[in-house]
Amino acid sequence: MRSDEQEYAALALAAQLAEQYRREVAAAPRHPTASYAEIHARFDGPVPAHGKDAVAVIEELDAGARDGLRGIVAPRFYAWVNGHSHVAGVAADWLTSAWGQNCAGIPMSPAGAAVEAVAARWLLELLDLPPENSVGLVSGATIANFVGLAAARGELLRRQGWDVEADGLYGAPPLRVLLGADAHNTVYSGLRYLGLGEKRVTTIATDSLGRMQPGDLERALRASSDPAIVIGQAGQINTGVSDPFAEIVPMVHAAQGWIHVDGAFGLWARASDKHRHLLDGVEQADSMAIDGHKWLQTPYDSGFAIVRNEEAHRRAMDMQASYLTRDNANHRHPGAYVPELSRRARGFAAWAMMRRLGRSGIAQMVDEDVRIAGILAAGMAAIPGVTVLNQPELNQFMVRFGAQGDEAKGDRNTLATVEQIQRDAQAYMGSAQWRGLWVMRVSVCSIATTEQDAAITIDAVRSAWEAVQAGR
Ligand SMILES: Cc1ncc(COP(=O)(O)O)c(C=O)c1O
Repeated sequence: MRSDEQEYAALALAAQLAEQYRREVAAAPRHPTASYAEIHARFDGPVPAHGKDAVAVIEELDAGARDGLRGIVAPRFYAWVNGHSHVAGVAADWLTSAWGQNCAGIPMSPAGAAVEAVAARWLLELLDLPPENSVGLVSGATIANFVGLAAARGELLRRQGWDVEADGLYGAPPLRVLLGADAHNTVYSGLRYLGLGEKRVTTIATDSLGRMQPGDLERALRASSDPAIVIGQAGQINTGVSDPFAEIVPMVHAAQGWIHVDGAFGLWARASDKHRHLLDGVEQADSMAIDGHKWLQTPYDSGFAIVRNEEAHRRAMDMQASYLTRDNANHRHPGAYVPELSRRARGFAAWAMMRRLGRSGIAQMVDEDVRIAGILAAGMAAIPGVTVLNQPELNQFMVRFGAQGDEAKGDRNTLATVEQIQRDAQAYMGSAQWRGLWVMRVSVCSIATTEQDAAITIDAVRSAWEAVQAGR
């Protein structure tokens, strides 16, 4: 038996290494200097025959992994849509792990369940959403989309006298799924998990930035009397725009449908007085998905499934067993709104970030990131040969390089410039396809990014593009 002192020393070492990493990351390279294969080779080998001292394990992990880490929490990181894993949230997450709470139910963790209930209510208030919504704390927006769509499927079939939770989809009445042509991949995953099929959807036309066209939706809704699940979007991943909810939500309800909104990052605009108007009408939606690990800056494993019909939410997710006692019937039961049983007490980190930033801090961060996205887009548009495809309405925009009159050449230039930016390591961007063309996608979703970072980033983009033109 090893002494407890060794284990506690491992905790202290982890804290020290974590602090060192976070202090140094802003100046560190924005791409890993060791490859996947190198890291894999370091860790690979036979299953250890014997254990090792806990301090030595943590040292081995840090030494082996450090140069293969991506600098996601560094200030000039703009790829995908990633938050900052804020240190306050990380600290709360350490306690969550150390406390070892299983937040399956109130008896297992009264504190985990209570703090989660408060975080859930605060979320609704921050986003100015109706208080009757129920909220499940899940691993991310992918699962939050699945939960919202599960509630939608159950409720629309229940209204037709069918209990899908009991009887499944065998012989069930028909359901339709309507979604915008620029929906995120993860809503298709949710449809797949639910037996609704990725291909059995009606695609609604979108405008040049990816917003659903209300006229097309109305026509599609009218085309059949089968009940419809409509999937809207708050924050398109390439352009940041949101669907015109004030128009489409009443349309869906008039047709007795259910509207689910994928708002992984964009729904956070509701926390800002300045940007809330972009999402007018979304508050009437039936269900929504939003991430904590994007614009709330929590560490990963933080998403929220919001459902306006609590009964439908619970019918789709709750599970019963004799050993899962419900001795606090009047309180919110955390496991009733999520697909898992054993689960991380996610409320602690979510609560900690809402407490750390407060209403004003979250609004300020959203406003500042949008402002910086605007500065970046304007700065890049001023570089000769660079085209900014959309002046950002929120925090996402796309750029192409050297595409004038020759799209194939534009694709090659764009991919080469993104690679050059990644090699130069002053900033980190990713590429994506939009309407069949390669673009550099820029996402400003971190509380760490400043106006000074924007200036450095514009210079980095200029010099990478010059290097590509010079054939270097
Ligand atoms: C619009 C949108 N929906 C869903 C997701 C999936 O979220 P997660 O990766 O947290 O599951 C993302 C992630 O980037 C997103 O941007």
